[in-house]
Amino acid sequence: METLPIIIYTSILLLLSPPNAAVQELLKGFTATPDSSISSFQPLLTDSIGNYSLGFLRVDRTQLALAVIHAPSQEQLWIAGKSHLPPWSSQTRLSFNGSLVISVSHRGVFWSTYTSGHRVRLSNTSNLLIEAEGEPPLVVWQSFDFPYNTLVEDQNFTSAMKLVSSNGLYSMKLGPDFIGFYAKFVSSSDSDPGHLYFQHNPMETKSHITKGQGPIRAKLSPDGFLGLYQNGSAQVDLQPFSSFQQPGTGNRIIRLEPDGNLIGYYWTGSSWVVDFKQISNPCDLPSSCGPYGLCRPGNSCSCLDHRKSYTVGGRCETSGDDFCRKKYRVLRRKGVELANKEIMAYTIMSSLEKCERACEEECTCWGAVYSNTSGFCYRIEYPIQTLVEVMDETKAGYFKVGEGAGEEKMGSGLWVGLGVLGGLVLLISGVGGVVLYRRESRGVKGYEEEEGINGVVGPYKNLGSASFKSIELSAR
Ligand SMILES: *[C@@H]1O[C@H](CO)[C@@H](O)[C@H](O)[C@H]1NC(C)=O
Ligand SMILES: *[C@@H]1O[C@H](CO)[C@@H](O)[C@H](O)[C@H]1NC(C)=O
Ligand SMILES: *[C@@H]1O[C@H](CO)[C@@H](O)[C@H](O)[C@H]1NC(C)=O
Ligand SMILES: *[C@@H]1O[C@H](CO)[C@@H](O)[C@H](O)[C@H]1NC(C)=O
Ligand SMILES: *[C@@H]1O[C@H](CO)[C@@H](O)[C@H](O)[C@H]1NC(C)=O
Ligand SMILES: *[C@@H]1O[C@H](CO)[C@@H](O)[C@H](O)[C@H]1NC(C)=O
Repeated sequence: METLPIIIYTSILLLLSPPNAAVQELLKGFTATPDSSISSFQPLLTDSIGNYSLGFLRVDRTQLALAVIHAPSQEQLWIAGKSHLPPWSSQTRLSFNGSLVISVSHRGVFWSTYTSGHRVRLSNTSNLLIEAEGEPPLVVWQSFDFPYNTLVEDQNFTSAMKLVSSNGLYSMKLGPDFIGFYAKFVSSSDSDPGHLYFQHNPMETKSHITKGQGPIRAKLSPDGFLGLYQNGSAQVDLQPFSSFQQPGTGNRIIRLEPDGNLIGYYWTGSSWVVDFKQISNPCDLPSSCGPYGLCRPGNSCSCLDHRKSYTVGGRCETSGDDFCRKKYRVLRRKGVELANKEIMAYTIMSSLEKCERACEEECTCWGAVYSNTSGFCYRIEYPIQTLVEVMDETKAGYFKVGEGAGEEKMGSGLWVGLGVLGGLVLLISGVGGVVLYRRESRGVKGYEEEEGINGVVGPYKNLGSASFKSIELSAR
């Protein structure tokens, strides 16, 4: 009877310790169940300084996520697993027997590290570690290898990893020489990242990525920038934040937000402030105005169908799901283009009619955008999201709209629930005395520019792009 003393021991511990006590290490035999009286977070393990805490996070009132949070702000930094969550009930149990395991009576294991470790610890950088005995202890598993939507300083982001936004729609992955952002508006297999909606390519400074010369990784530096590295240490890219070279370590995080943007935050000691936005122009976000919405540079939303009025949080149309089986009607709009068309595939067609027909004949096509001046026909292979308004009537869109479709559900309960938690209350104020210092990325290399003269308009099309269009028009 090996287990009996452990049970007695843990019962004594439970009796002696106050319900919210969190320890600094978990040893074999540890178990915990959620406390029904706790409404938000039940701490179980803390780091040596008390900045971070591992515990049970209540999601959507009834579900439980094992999470690492930043204690002063209660912001979640990491969540175990990306699939369905167990219930917040006495049937659910976290245990450590060499593996850290979440199981539910009669339903089995929900999540496990599948390790054989000796103790569990939370580092003072928020890394959850499982260590085997040894001097120094050998780390057999770390949460930094399985990021959720957030990266902290010095956390290596490699091509084996991805960040997923809390609503499950967006992900960030490294390509061979770029950071890619993907959207998944239709459910498909886990291995399918969806379509690329934004891409950050390194700036062409003195060093650059040599394809096939070693893997790249991204890392948030304590000096206030997001760096890309090749072969371990060679820095090949640097995106500075507005708190660039602000002293102090452990104060920065980046997070893939539910709108598909990668945002950097700086901890001032009392709140998180935004100090970096990967996508600086809101119209370049994949769905800034929702499905069938239209984004006007300067950030106001309307509907692609101008007879409809746009409401915040509402949607212009219910996006049709499958035009191979369901009927649709057609919506046309002039003066629109795709955000980030630089990274979209196109074919050259001699007329708008031909471009439309190519989409009409293909039931997996949701719509098409055509530029009469260049003859570029962009086929949209995913449910229509937000398009960008341009002062150029020669750019026209053709969109299929599902008929008689009911209100469609966006995402599963899990993702929506976590999204609510993920929302940071932020003051978009300057970080004390910080000089705004950012360089804009240049155009995406390797993609043909649509307009001959706009070579400098890169992925960061900003308000300047509107004036570009007028130059373009008057030059003609
Ligand atoms: C740890 O517990 C899990 C769940 O109960 C079980 O599947 C696993 O075999 C156990 N591992 C060891 C080493 O006992
Ligand atoms: C955090 O831990 C590392 C070693 O793991 C140590 O060198 C460092 O001093 C610690 N930082 C603080 C603020 O305690
Ligand atoms: C990476 O390593 C390979 C082989 O070790 C080497 O040939 C290459 O030049 C290195 N690339 C960089 C950017 O350091
Ligand atoms: C990140 O990767 C580099 C190079 O492989 C390594 O030296 C460093 O220890 C890693 N950092 C962490 C926190 O794992
Ligand atoms: C971590 O704790 C130290 C000491 O309490 C504090 O000065 C620092 O701001 C904390 N860092 C974060 C990111 O909360
Ligand atoms: C489109 O281009 C063709 C020839 O390039 C021209 O004849 C036609 O008028 C243009 N249509 C529009 C709407 O600009």
